[in-house]
Amino acid sequence: MKPPMDPIAAATHADPYPYYAQLVANQPLYHDSALGAWVASSADAVTAVLTSDLCGIRPVGEPVPAAISESSAAEIFRHLVRMTDGDGHGPLKEAVSAALASVGRDQVVRQSNTSARILLAGQGQRLELDRSQDFIFGLPVHVLGSLLGIPQDRLQQTALWMSDFVHCLAPASSPEQIKQGNVAASHLRDMFRGLLVDQPNQPDDSLLGVLVRETQRVGYEAVDLLIANSIGFLWQGYEATAGLIGNTLLTLATHTEVRDDVAADPSLLTHVIQEVLRYDAPIQNTRRFINCDGILAGQKMKTGDAILVVLAAANRDPAANPNPERFDMFRRDRQIFSFGAGVHACPGDALATAIARTGIEELLATGATLMQSHENVTYRPSANARIPLLSSVTGSSLQ
Ligand code: HEM
Repeated sequence: MKPPMDPIAAATHADPYPYYAQLVANQPLYHDSALGAWVASSADAVTAVLTSDLCGIRPVGEPVPAAISESSAAEIFRHLVRMTDGDGHGPLKEAVSAALASVGRDQVVRQSNTSARILLAGQGQRLELDRSQDFIFGLPVHVLGSLLGIPQDRLQQTALWMSDFVHCLAPASSPEQIKQGNVAASHLRDMFRGLLVDQPNQPDDSLLGVLVRETQRVGYEAVDLLIANSIGFLWQGYEATAGLIGNTLLTLATHTEVRDDVAADPSLLTHVIQEVLRYDAPIQNTRRFINCDGILAGQKMKTGDAILVVLAAANRDPAANPNPERFDMFRRDRQIFSFGAGVHACPGDALATAIARTGIEELLATGATLMQSHENVTYRPSANARIPLLSSVTGSSLQ
């Protein structure tokens, strides 16, 4: 098998891990002139970049990508906690994290059960490729959307809007994708504006209700900011959670011993998911931009330099996780870089793993087995998300 062309192509390569191992061993932080960016891959280099004051989440002077400026998508993008740095970030992160933490585990599991059953209903004996994709992408939107108060009959449409919205934010999106993404962004903004107007009639402890209260508590009242970060929950959870579900299903399909262990004791799925997060990360890389000249991890960097931060390679650094190529669900002191680190670390990790676990349990409870081999795995095109296109799922009782 040919190695990937570069660390971006690696995200969707059939087996990028030998290539990442070479980077970690020989070029833990180097400048890739073809990419026009630094590449950080070892656990130390990734940690140094993600925790450095020299780095920002957006290039200096470009808070919103030029391709979407002056659009509905831009109005969402500019207010996202994920895309904000400096004084505005800390309080907003506190509010967003408090809102996500307010959702109890039992509540997520209950909602994930309900949503998984709805999505699996009427599948017949065989869950074909496009329908299994509907399941893995639909589940996070249905669960998070329901927690936010989106009515059941609008969730399917919301998942379609989310798909268009995500495509328009990708670094290599086409003019057509940007156009469709903007239409989706307008619909999403209108829907959330309506939900906010109706908020006084909703339960106090709904995710949207808590987000409203928490943002007010830290001093923000702007409706646009609330709308953007509610959409941000759906956006952040969409591809990443789909990748976690897909990569876990793929692991069960291709590692017979893991599948047998889980069949004998379904509670082991929790350990399997933690190891999948390390072994085959759903989000393989993220980006940073140097916002003032300085030395970072021993390298001289200049304002405007871009850095590709290869989280999936750091997960496989033997200095962080010994024998990294071994899938070990009982790994001790596991270090996972897949949720990022530092001030922008993911506040949705517990929610994402609970949704993935419950959804997979529901799928397996239908008697489903996965038809897949290592050789024919392909991945949905992306610069950073690793989401397998599973060939099919068969089951004795999928109905
Ligand atoms: C398996 C699923 C998920 C993965 C692998 C994942 C991964 C990540 C990563 C790597 C970052 C940091 C990005 C960076 O520093 O450049 C991040 C940030 C974030 N994630 Fe997640 N995420 C997942 C699910 C979720 C879910 C379900 C939510 C919310 C419902 C969420 C909300 C957020 C938010 C709000 C941020 C921005 C935090 C900040 O910028 O301070 N994530 N996520």
